[in-house]
Amino acid sequence: MNYEAVRESADYILSKLKGKTDTGIILGSGLGGLVDVIEDPVVIPYGEIPHFPKATLAGHAGNFVFGKIGGRRVAVMQGRFHCYQGLGMDQVTYPLYVMKLLGVSDLVITNACGGIRKDFRPGDLMIITDFINMLGTNPLIGDNDERFGVRFPDMSEPYSHELIALAEKCAASCGISYQKGVYLATTGPSYETAAEIRAFRTLGADAVGMSTVPETIVARYLGMKVLGIACITNMATGLAREPHTHEEVLRIADESSARLCRWVTDILKA
Ligand code: HPA
Repeated sequence: MNYEAVRESADYILSKLKGKTDTGIILGSGLGGLVDVIEDPVVIPYGEIPHFPKATLAGHAGNFVFGKIGGRRVAVMQGRFHCYQGLGMDQVTYPLYVMKLLGVSDLVITNACGGIRKDFRPGDLMIITDFINMLGTNPLIGDNDERFGVRFPDMSEPYSHELIALAEKCAASCGISYQKGVYLATTGPSYETAAEIRAFRTLGADAVGMSTVPETIVARYLGMKVLGIACITNMATGLAREPHTHEEVLRIADESSARLCRWVTDILKA
């Protein structure tokens, strides 16, 4: 990753903010409600930021929203970049490098995904305990700049045990039920076949989606602690009674958004 470009992106953002940012939050499809609880929001459209990826995000807003939630200084990504848009992995993960230079040390990633485990139901929220990368590539391929991280980053704890314990404690105190499981990423944009879902179950996956893994790998490389929360918007192919549609994914995500927001807000406070 080009350090100077990231520095310029971060300096542009810093010129609009009063202080440092400690927590990054990536919002998944239909889970945008969290921006409404940000205090003193400063909205910076991606298009304004030098060197930021240029991509159209159909159905997604493309903004960084800065402010405070639960006393934490947050950088919320309203709209994220996906491989299926034809972007390189370095573009998909570019915002993470910028967040690092803004001071972010903790990251909350959310997404909408399909449930593979048979006891999951649409609307369930799942704490991501680990991932399986089926993207066929890795966002860290290329020259390594040691100012960002080491050449061979460890992935034994992609999702912070400490943050998972905190999320579980908050869920118990605010009465939110949740699942825990392994998230598997494909590039999309086609949904999986029933045979692929059977194969993914055999591999140990509990849920499947088209995001999150590139960002998690880069965040860990950058030394951030990551919490991942997935919203099961549908049962995966072969388990679902109806063919998948993006509209149904967005509808279920929207229904779950308020619960997710309450949970994340509580976690930030704690
Ligand atoms: N598969 C992949 N990505 C998804 C799904 C799914 O079933 N649901 C929402 N995102």
